[in-house]
Amino acid sequence: MSEVKLVAKPGEVQFPKGLEGVIARETTKSYVDGQRGRLYYHGIPIEELAENSTYEETFFLLLYDRLPTEGELEYFKSRMVQYRELPSEVYDYICKASSRYNDTPMSVLRTAVSMLASFDDSAEEDSLPAHEREAIKITSRMATITAAIGRARKGLAPIHPRPDLSHAANFLYMLFGEEPDPYYARVMDVILILHADHGCNASTFATLVVKSTLSDMYSSVVAGIAALKGPLHGGANQRALRMLKEIGEPENAEAWVLKALEKKRRIMGFGHRVYKAYDPRARILHDYAVEVTKRAGTEKYLKMAEIIERVMIERLGKKGIFPNVDFYSGVVMSSMGIDDELFTPIFATSRVAGWTAHALEQRVDNRIYRPRFVYVGPEIDHWVPLEERVKPEKEPTPFTPLEKLV
Ligand SMILES: CC(C)(COP(=O)(O)OP(=O)(O)OC[C@H]1O[C@@H](n2cnc3c(N)ncnc32)[C@H](O)[C@@H]1OP(=O)(O)O)[C@@H](O)C(=O)NCCC(=O)NCCS
Repeated sequence: MSEVKLVAKPGEVQFPKGLEGVIARETTKSYVDGQRGRLYYHGIPIEELAENSTYEETFFLLLYDRLPTEGELEYFKSRMVQYRELPSEVYDYICKASSRYNDTPMSVLRTAVSMLASFDDSAEEDSLPAHEREAIKITSRMATITAAIGRARKGLAPIHPRPDLSHAANFLYMLFGEEPDPYYARVMDVILILHADHGCNASTFATLVVKSTLSDMYSSVVAGIAALKGPLHGGANQRALRMLKEIGEPENAEAWVLKALEKKRRIMGFGHRVYKAYDPRARILHDYAVEVTKRAGTEKYLKMAEIIERVMIERLGKKGIFPNVDFYSGVVMSSMGIDDELFTPIFATSRVAGWTAHALEQRVDNRIYRPRFVYVGPEIDHWVPLEERVKPEKEPTPFTPLEKLV
């Protein structure tokens, strides 16, 4: 590698902000073909997985780099079932934290997953079998945590998992307290499959940075949740749905979006750093939205979404702005009766499959992540005794050291 200048004037050294285009490592897990609008998990097109697979099978594929045989899938599912239940202390925490106004569902999820480590005797064991076990344990339990959070937000007691239901059906059962209609269980399964992995996104990279220090699997997943929590990553689906609610009726949609574009507002659920074509996950979810909104009598949200999509593609399609996965997932989930504040925890409940699969891949072929900064601060300076210091006229940072204590 050529010598890079690491001490410079601000703006002097060119570098890809946000590490855009930087290769972090090799992977066999997933590939996003942004130009063609394709997504593959270990070479299999996402459309084929959404049509034929289950979340459990997809998780197996991501973890072990192949589809399971019938016997292997049964055994893998039984392992996931075995881990579904949570320690009572974690349920207690979820119920208490969810009744406090400032604990968002993602904060509770983050802390609950961290707590799980305290109840796992092998949490600190640095071996591949221990990591593999934890990958399955955490993935299985995150669905139980998310469902318990959904209920606790409404003041309802958690519902314990059932061993006879699939991962997706059991999630809906734990959330609503009744066995789901098989069609909705299938829709949930597809939502979980579609969100399970997506290349080197911010939360997967955060997971890998922590794992690369040889930290434990729980800490690595907590880093992933922490990164997904930010509004630039998870959360756009919640905002997209809120936008539709704000628009109110299909006849307002075209004028609303044109005005928003005129004001240079970002339309949530559109655009992507990697996709410059239609996100294949959005296409699949759109097709499910047709049936789900019909069943729920919420067709007006789909109608509004379709109008917005048409206007956006007419205006911005040539710039590569198309609907992304978040545009239709909110319409589908809210039509299934799921509150929008659970959308990001559900995203995490699915993406944990990718996080843990990539973390194991990292552990097998590890090198600690250690990029560099370009130093653009003052040249060599010296410590000054207190009595000689003067306050500068202008603060060097956009925040001040004299904020009031609250
Ligand atoms: C996802 C996102 C952050 C990608 O950002 P990015 O790769 O940095 O893209 P840029 O911000 O460089 O945008 C490129 C151009 O498209 C426009 N654009 C991008 N997304 C847009 C959107 N959702 N609505 C309107 N215009 C958009 C930008 O204004 C910019 O226009 P300009 O060239 O005239 O300045 C961005 O598209 C966005 O904010 N989308 C909305 C949030 C969202 O849906 N996030 C979920 C992603 S899965």
